[in-house]
Amino acid sequence: MPLVVIVGCQWGDEGKGKVIDFLAHDADWVARYQGGNNAGHTVIVRGEKRVLHLIPSGILHPNAKCLIGNGVVVDPQALVEEMRMLEQSGVSVRERLFVSENAHLIMPYHRKLDHMMEARRGANKIGTTGRGIGCAYSDKVARHGIRMHDLRDKDAFARKVATFSPFYQHLFESYGEEPWEVDDVVEEVWRYRDEILPLIVDGVTLINEELDRGKNVLAEGAQGILLDVDFGTYPFVTSSNPSPGGVCTGLGVPPRKISKVVGVLKAYSTRVGAGPFVTELHDELGTKLREWGGEFGATTGRPRRCGWFDCVAVRRSLQIGGITNLALMKLDVLSGLDEIRVCTHYRIGGQTVNVLPFGFETTEHIEPVYETFKGWKQPLDDVRKFDDLPQAARDYVIALEQLIGARMDFVSVGPDRDETIFRSKELFRGL
Ligand code: GDP
Ligand code: IMO
Ligand code: MG
Repeated sequence: MPLVVIVGCQWGDEGKGKVIDFLAHDADWVARYQGGNNAGHTVIVRGEKRVLHLIPSGILHPNAKCLIGNGVVVDPQALVEEMRMLEQSGVSVRERLFVSENAHLIMPYHRKLDHMMEARRGANKIGTTGRGIGCAYSDKVARHGIRMHDLRDKDAFARKVATFSPFYQHLFESYGEEPWEVDDVVEEVWRYRDEILPLIVDGVTLINEELDRGKNVLAEGAQGILLDVDFGTYPFVTSSNPSPGGVCTGLGVPPRKISKVVGVLKAYSTRVGAGPFVTELHDELGTKLREWGGEFGATTGRPRRCGWFDCVAVRRSLQIGGITNLALMKLDVLSGLDEIRVCTHYRIGGQTVNVLPFGFETTEHIEPVYETFKGWKQPLDDVRKFDDLPQAARDYVIALEQLIGARMDFVSVGPDRDETIFRSKELFRGL
């Protein structure tokens, strides 16, 4: 019963899509356990680029089946549009994609409210993706969410929307926004309902039975541990648990069924949206990294903020993640730099801090302490063996391993599936 979790260990966009893609080769199932269409997972196969937002990236492997788990919030329009986009580009979807009946829906009023709240936050805005993610999760926790299984009966669905409507009308009114009609909302969702209905299953029974049959399952994380609502840089976080704890609640699998956790790291740091970022580069070098790394949001197109690798932040992720294997991505992007810096610890009020603190929203009081490494000039995209990397690149990877206390089993040197150095045997073997 091998269940392998893929989790981002920074602020998202580490390259999870590529890792899922190369591991999905051996997977029978790929399951999303949290988040929604705020994710943007890019996969490039032989030069052809695909960006997945909601459907697990494993869908690109014809032998893998995919589950959108109960922990995911699903925008019906986004789901159907992504299914159609995939089918138009020749990927079979409908017979291989399933959605948990207890996954919550992102309703049209959630999207609207997300934008309204961000506008009202002004200078304190989070920089959300505007997809209604936080509002859908708020309703889930407040116990007035609407779930996939509610799509089975239109009258019951309409009654639920009508029940929650006064709460929203009041809220919209207080924001000075136009009220909305229950019927309009029901009809908007129903436009997509017939295409979604056949996908709805008891995802918990499905995935547990498949694991008990010995099938290989990949749990595909979105975002990253530093955006986790419990462990991230709160309140500049997303509204779910990307950390592996989210796998148990987001798929309904017991913790003992998790066999491995693959952490994904970028060779430097990025974040999109607001929030503290201690090693951020505000100079020309930050702009260079953005250009070289193509650091523009896969979902919103926003420029990503760029900075040096932050061991303090990553140590927090490793502490929470129970990581068994690491993938280091985008090492090639650093080619051409004279020097590369790594933040080894922070100085806060005269104290040395090795693990990211929880209670800070600004960074003025934090002094990052850097170690400087020699850069290398050669491009790396043709390298397939660790020993063939330039000495300085090897030294950099080994130094990171020592600083965070974990081994990089995969080193990625380009966006394509093949541009990868494998230092470990197949992940599923022997589980
Ligand atoms: P995710 O959200 O974690 O799946 O990451 P994104 O897809 O949002 O962002 C990662 C970006 O880096 C994508 O455009 C990938 O195609 C690209 N990428 C992944 N690995 C590498 C790599 O090793 N080198 C380079 N240059 N690009 C990479
Ligand atoms: P992937 O899966 C990077 C960020 C947003 C914002 C915060 C809250 O591609 O790594 P939300 O819309 O979730 O309420 O926004 O979280 N964010 C991401 N940043 N990668 C992502 O996903 C993200 N998903 C959300 O920019 O700062
Ligand atoms: Mg992304």
